[in-house]
Amino acid sequence: MVLGLAWGDEGKGRVCDVLASDARYVSRYSGGNNAGHTIRIGREEFVVHLIPSGIVREGVECTVGSGVVVNPEVLEEEVEALEKRGVEVRSRLKVDGRAHLILPYHIVLDSHREKALGDAKIGTTNRGIGPAYEDKVARSGIRVQDIFDEGILRAKLKAALREKNSILENVYGEEPYDPDELADFLLSFRDLLGPMVADTGALLREALDAGESVLLEGAQATLLDNDHGTYPFVTSSNPSVGGAVVGSGIPPQALDQVIGVTKAYTTRVGDGPFPTELMDETGETIRRAGNEYGSTTGRPRRCGWLDLVAVKYSAALNGITYLAITLLDVLSAVDEIKICVGYEIEGERVKEFPMSQTDLHHARPVYKDLPGWGIDITGCRMRGDLPEAAQDFVGFVEAEVGAPLCMISVGPERDQAIIERIGT
Ligand code: GDP
Ligand code: IMO
Ligand code: MG
Repeated sequence: MVLGLAWGDEGKGRVCDVLASDARYVSRYSGGNNAGHTIRIGREEFVVHLIPSGIVREGVECTVGSGVVVNPEVLEEEVEALEKRGVEVRSRLKVDGRAHLILPYHIVLDSHREKALGDAKIGTTNRGIGPAYEDKVARSGIRVQDIFDEGILRAKLKAALREKNSILENVYGEEPYDPDELADFLLSFRDLLGPMVADTGALLREALDAGESVLLEGAQATLLDNDHGTYPFVTSSNPSVGGAVVGSGIPPQALDQVIGVTKAYTTRVGDGPFPTELMDETGETIRRAGNEYGSTTGRPRRCGWLDLVAVKYSAALNGITYLAITLLDVLSAVDEIKICVGYEIEGERVKEFPMSQTDLHHARPVYKDLPGWGIDITGCRMRGDLPEAAQDFVGFVEAEVGAPLCMISVGPERDQAIIERIGT
């Protein structure tokens, strides 16, 4: 599996695209269309939100697992947009019947909740993710399979809307939803979803039993994990390794390789603590060089130095077996590089990522300085091709994290990477 070690957008889609060449299945297990995964193939750029990035690899099949929340309208748009560009989707994509649906009222609630929080807002993607997962846990959610049992669908929507409409009308002054209209709307996705609905966990287990390769594509990332991330500034699912078992339906021992992805620096979209954030010209330089604008919302991403305290925490939590470093080329734009190797919290030096939210808000980074290299490295295909300063940088990160590097990405395109050891 491939997962992010920070706050998302580490280049998971790009890493999965490389690994997908050997996979029978590429599968999403958590999150929804809050994700934006970019794949560059020559002059073509694909950004997928809900469909696994493996879809752009011919011959690969894709699954959307039970842990994912599915907005059927977005799914339809994404299928159509990909098919318009010549990517066959319908025959290669399965969606789990247990996956929960994101409904229009989830999006309305997401935006009202954020407004109500004022300055304490989370900065969500406003895709209805949190409210959809809330309903799942509350056992009042509507699932993909419900679309295929009209009686159940209408009864469940009626029950759900009794409460939702009361909140929408009385708390937020919104118009109520009509359960039958909403049911008709959902029934209109039968043609799209009918051929796609499957028990995707069973498909993956069958493939594994047959000795085939399955690649799980993380969305969001470890520090956005509802349990292990920087709560409450997190998403409402478990992007970290445990969520992959639950959300894909494969047993834990099948996760024989866990590839943790980190940028050569750190970014965050949305609000919440970010100890190494750069509010100065250097942050702007990195944003420009890395084109750091959200793939889902277009928001400028907050940029900062690589936070090894956070990355080491995530690496340990997920038990990563390999490390992938992406966007190393972006650091060619800065003269001197810093890596955060500890925090100072209330006058005390710490090396561990703090459990306490208060501590994290007070954490000041302790940096190690490294020289920059200042030249274009996008043509490097072996570690030895990199300038010495860049080799030192990746060597330092690899040693600190304690997991071997399997890939160093030096550009967004498929072939702009130094590949080491993948699949061994
Ligand atoms: P994801 O959500 O983890 O899949 O990452 P995103 O796709 O949201 O963001 C990563 C961005 O970095 C995308 O625009 C990629 O095309 C780009 N990218 C990935 N790897 C590299 C790299 O090594 N160098 C550069 N310059 N861009 C990269
Ligand atoms: P990928 O898969 C970066 C962030 C949002 C917000 C918080 C909660 O592309 O890495 P949500 O809409 O999930 O309730 O928002 O999580 N967030 C992401 N940030 N990359 C993502 O996905 C993200 N998905 C959610 O910005 O701070
Ligand atoms: Mg992204």
